[in-house]
Amino acid sequence: MTATVIDNIGLLITNDPTLGEGPLGKRHDASVVVEAGRVVSVGHTGQVADDRIDADGACVLPGFVDSHTHLVFAGDRSEEFTARMAGQPYDGGGIRTTTEATRSTSTAELDRLVRLRLAEAHRAGTTTIEIKSGYGLNVDDEARSLDIAKRHTDETTFLGAHLVPSEYVGRADDYVALVCNDMLAAAAPHAKWIDAFCERGAFDADQSRAVLEAGAAIGLVGRLHGNQLEPGPGVQLAVECGCASVDHCTYLTDDDIDALAGSDTVATFLPAADFSTKQPYADARRVIDAGATVAIASNCNPGSSYTTSISFCIAIAVRDMGMTIDEALRAVTTGGAAALRRTDVGRLSPGSAGHAVILDAPSHHHLAYRPGVPLIRQTIGPLGS
Ligand code: NIG
Repeated sequence: MTATVIDNIGLLITNDPTLGEGPLGKRHDASVVVEAGRVVSVGHTGQVADDRIDADGACVLPGFVDSHTHLVFAGDRSEEFTARMAGQPYDGGGIRTTTEATRSTSTAELDRLVRLRLAEAHRAGTTTIEIKSGYGLNVDDEARSLDIAKRHTDETTFLGAHLVPSEYVGRADDYVALVCNDMLAAAAPHAKWIDAFCERGAFDADQSRAVLEAGAAIGLVGRLHGNQLEPGPGVQLAVECGCASVDHCTYLTDDDIDALAGSDTVATFLPAADFSTKQPYADARRVIDAGATVAIASNCNPGSSYTTSISFCIAIAVRDMGMTIDEALRAVTTGGAAALRRTDVGRLSPGSAGHAVILDAPSHHHLAYRPGVPLIRQTIGPLGS
């Protein structure tokens, strides 16, 4: 079996406090040996293996874990974005526009589009990714979207409850019944998680609970979109249902934060969505200080957040959400992993996945300090590699 050493690392972030300084487990003048996709050793510069990648004194990080994306879609909604910049509010209604475009696109073309987006994400440092359905919104197109997603990742999420599709407007409860029965049965073979958009205009708490419970009954663990556009029941519902994560968390009450802090549900922030919809940014500081586990994800989708750049999300989190750079980096690595209930990714310690990012920078601070600059020199390990 061929082993590879990433050598001559100026600053290595392991995310294993037993291996180095502080919660990030930082080491200087380090090297990492990877064999069969796993880290086998972390040591000083100069370890030897069959192959050698020279980091040339740069900073090396665990690959980013992007725990929230909607990559299976067709069509373009740039005009909606432009209208928002001119003052139009975001209300999620454009999900129907993307659904129409997605339904009328061939499977081969949808798969090609997903591959392009995954390649873009990998170039930007993401090595583990979650992909949701949610632009099919009928039995066949939801199953098809998940089948495509499953070709590329094990972290697939059934989001039939994204929005009531045009043909069910005024019959939301009938649509929820379809989601919980025939659609779920068709989606289940391709899905690991189940999700709902719990927000005014999408699904209320009872409808979202019904979806989460139907999924749980067949072994799909919940995640939930909540508290994106206004305060609402999403966070409390996610905690009550034992969801792995509640995503957006832009509007949180003190009770929401207490509920998160006393739970295993990760608060996942999606700052690029708040950027693109002109919402305020989430107050991550309050959530972290309360003791909750937090993650940051890209939320790559054509409506509210058309970016795969985790570096962009880090820069916002540090500039506008009260997070330190160390906290933001943890949120996109171990935080994302926690949101997917994984411990094998998001760190570089013996036994973990050998997924790494070499920066064109001496430290991770540059990810926020040099926003918009492509600082990812090399991404090592999966996303379909
Ligand atoms: O997470 N909020 C719901 N779903 C996506 C947006 C989908 C869209 O507008 O197409 C999100 O932001």
